[in-house]
Amino acid sequence: MPSATAVAHPNIALCKYWGKRDRALNLPAVGSLSLTLAPFSTTTTVEWGADADELVLNGRVGTPEESRKVFALLDLVDSWRPKVRVLSENDFPTAAGLASSSSGFAALVLAACKAAGQERSVEQLSVLARRGSGSASRSLFGGWSEWKVGERPDGMDSYAFELAPQDHWDVRMIVAIFDAGPKGTSSRDGMLHTQETSPYYPAWVASTPRDLAEARLAIRGRDLGALGAIMERSALRMHACMMAADPPVLYWKSGSVWAQETVRALRDRGIACAWTMDAGPNVKVLCAAADADEVSARLSRVADVVHVLEPGGPARLVG
Ligand code: DP6
Repeated sequence: MPSATAVAHPNIALCKYWGKRDRALNLPAVGSLSLTLAPFSTTTTVEWGADADELVLNGRVGTPEESRKVFALLDLVDSWRPKVRVLSENDFPTAAGLASSSSGFAALVLAACKAAGQERSVEQLSVLARRGSGSASRSLFGGWSEWKVGERPDGMDSYAFELAPQDHWDVRMIVAIFDAGPKGTSSRDGMLHTQETSPYYPAWVASTPRDLAEARLAIRGRDLGALGAIMERSALRMHACMMAADPPVLYWKSGSVWAQETVRALRDRGIACAWTMDAGPNVKVLCAAADADEVSARLSRVADVVHVLEPGGPARLVG
């Protein structure tokens, strides 16, 4: 039976994806930009030919919803596919405040296309990963990557590409965890509800091209002050937009605000750092590698758990 194994790292967006222009094709309303993070990773093995479709996630049978998403994606890889067995393991806690779907779908498409004997470009793999989960389109790449909003109705020009490799800039992303429980509203539901009901949604969409253009320059110039201002602005505008939805989508907890205040206090003391938040209360702080010990020590005072992550490499086949 042909089989293949792939490893991918999760990514955190610095310029956020929030909103879809096509739900069926999972096309974004805005471009986004992210940093892929190690050492956390997902390892996925796909056995192309089995008695029945079977998904095992972190040692347990996948839920019906998880299985539906995974096998729908494999139908896109090959609509005439055989039954397939998928084994996927995250080496980081599922409650680590990181989107395991980004690394999960990136590893899945890479392993599945290899097991199916398909030669696909990394752009084609990114398009496929996007169909599983938008943020996964970016986890095919190491370091700094951008997911293009695209223009084509078929979505074939909406894929990610590498802006700068893993070793471009020695930074750290520190994840401060306040709430390890499952999230109340999934990103998918939260963003669809936001675009349907938030009066701020058109302004959010209109604000994003400038953020992307400025973030590309800040990354190229390794300018943490400039990038930090853009990433906080992007996160705040995304959250402001969802807080204005009806009823509101509110992921913040008191700890989220304490961590943001900690970041501002560190900046007042001359340490360049900036925060971002996704569809949950946990806060992720970007800083120079040399400042990581101090930043994580400060965040440890307000958070339950702190993880220090570094730029990771691209998704890769390991078997
Ligand atoms: C806030 O990629 O999980 O993390 O495409 O519906 O699966 P779907 O959404 P998903 O959304 C991620 C939203 C975010 C911002 C980001 O990663 O850009």
